Amino acid sequence: MITLPTQIDTSSDVFEKNCSAMGEALDILAKDLTRSREGGGEKYVQRHLDRGRLLPRERVERLLDRDGWFLEIAPLAGMDLEGNKPGARIIGGVGVVCGVECVISASESTDQGGAIHEWGVKKSQRLGEIAIENRLPVISCVESAGADLPNQGKIFVPGGKGFRDLTERSKARVPTVCLVFGSSTAGGAYLPGMSDYVVMVKEQAQVFLAGPPLVKMATGEVVDEESLGGAEMHARQSGLADYLAVDELDAIRLGREIIASIGWTKSGPLPEPPEPPAYAPTELRGIVSADPRVPFAAREIIARVVDGSRFHEFKPLYGPTLVTGFARIHGYTVGILANDGVLLAESAEKGAQFIMLCNQRNIPLVYLQNITGFMVGEAVEKGGITRAGAKMINAVSNSTVPAITIMTGMSYGAGNYAMCGRAYGPRFLFSWPNHRIAVMGGEQLAGVLDIIKRQSAAKRGVDVDEEQLSMMKQMIAGKIEFESHARHATAQLWDDGIIDPADTRDVIGLALSACHSAPVQGTNAWGVFRH
Ligand code: COA
Repeated sequence: MITLPTQIDTSSDVFEKNCSAMGEALDILAKDLTRSREGGGEKYVQRHLDRGRLLPRERVERLLDRDGWFLEIAPLAGMDLEGNKPGARIIGGVGVVCGVECVISASESTDQGGAIHEWGVKKSQRLGEIAIENRLPVISCVESAGADLPNQGKIFVPGGKGFRDLTERSKARVPTVCLVFGSSTAGGAYLPGMSDYVVMVKEQAQVFLAGPPLVKMATGEVVDEESLGGAEMHARQSGLADYLAVDELDAIRLGREIIASIGWTKSGPLPEPPEPPAYAPTELRGIVSADPRVPFAAREIIARVVDGSRFHEFKPLYGPTLVTGFARIHGYTVGILANDGVLLAESAEKGAQFIMLCNQRNIPLVYLQNITGFMVGEAVEKGGITRAGAKMINAVSNSTVPAITIMTGMSYGAGNYAMCGRAYGPRFLFSWPNHRIAVMGGEQLAGVLDIIKRQSAAKRGVDVDEEQLSMMKQMIAGKIEFESHARHATAQLWDDGIIDPADTRDVIGLALSACHSAPVQGTNAWGVFRH
């Protein structure tokens, strides 16, 4: 395998300008992440601490192994959507507990009692998906007021799927350990109800379908919280609690003990010893163009992500706008597909062939997506660009080896699909702060609308209202600009989080490690390829 050469001049003005633009974007990311850690705000955080409780993030930290890692998922989910705070009132991610990689979630109980809202439902379902696809046990730290009552209409029906998924995971022998730290009502009660192992904290955790006020309203019965759903009652009488913890730390100890006792082993192959790249990953910050319209070289990215910067390129002379090849990342062998320009028919054909090869060899795929779309025009249509694109999308869709997608820049049009965008089920998908995503760029979209409106007016034999058309184009371009931004995309859970480009290699390494908890098994079964 050759060590990739580099053309990057780290002392150039362009490099410096790019670093500075990326620095600004990373500052915004840091501010957003700080907001995601503020819970329900100072007053409610203080009240929680005054009650002698651990903050939800402290619960997660104490569950984790001292030297273990935690890959946070969707920390900015729901951000600023209808005024929501980043994080969707759930802390979630993959981390190591007693040597076992687990999906961990915790209710953000300092914010509206940890009540579950629309984006929390979506984030929980994403966490559940990660658990089942990668065969990772789940630990949930619950203290939740159940459904966010004023918004119940948005969560009641879709929220039911979370409980179904939980029991389906149990059937698939992917266990869930539920640690109940506080009051857990209604939907919050079914979380322990459906889990495989339940720990409740004495004189603190309460689980009931309806709290005392609702019971009084419904039946007239007057009952106190402890008698209705206290930990002691559930451990001794109802049988909902399997373990009674004396305090929060004891609950965490019990949770860790349960995970250790399961004797979980990974089903995928172990990695080879890792090796750092020959070039510093931090240089990626100066490689990404400050101007999103200026492309940057795929091999320069690969050189700062893979072990030893060594890359065994496949079909380098054919379909050169898609770079394909084999490498190792943190010791795991992967097949990489990276955009190096607009997708051509040959690039798509090559991509499909490469995906099939990786499936034959049970090798996970890493997509480095930076794509403005497929080439358009009469010549390429005659050359079969749609047919070739469909072939690649067929291969991406039916591939069964784990895929990890990194949005390193643009993601426009069917390029998003062919390069394993969210709808194509990559096991993990992370974005760089410069990422933009839409059916096409704002200017192009406004231009297309301009042509359509003019053609339509001509057909009807009327004049175009130039002022109105110009206003509409401006509004549309502004709307697309907002909607295609990485911050909006991550709020919508179109990715699992925005990362510093310099962390790409490590994030992929952790994601690969998580994927290898499940068997890594390729397929020979594909849809009909159109030749
Ligand atoms: N939906 C939306 N907001 C809720 C909520 C819910 N299910 N439960 C609590 N909140 C809000 C409260 O209105 C309060 O907001 P405010 O400070 O702006 O007035 C905030 O969360 C904190 O609630 P508070 O009752 O002060 O916290 P607490 O820690 O003393 O008690 C609970 C927490 C969960 C025990 C209590 O709030 C409760 O019983 N909630 C109702 C639970 C319920 O019946 N859920 C049914 C869901 S179907």
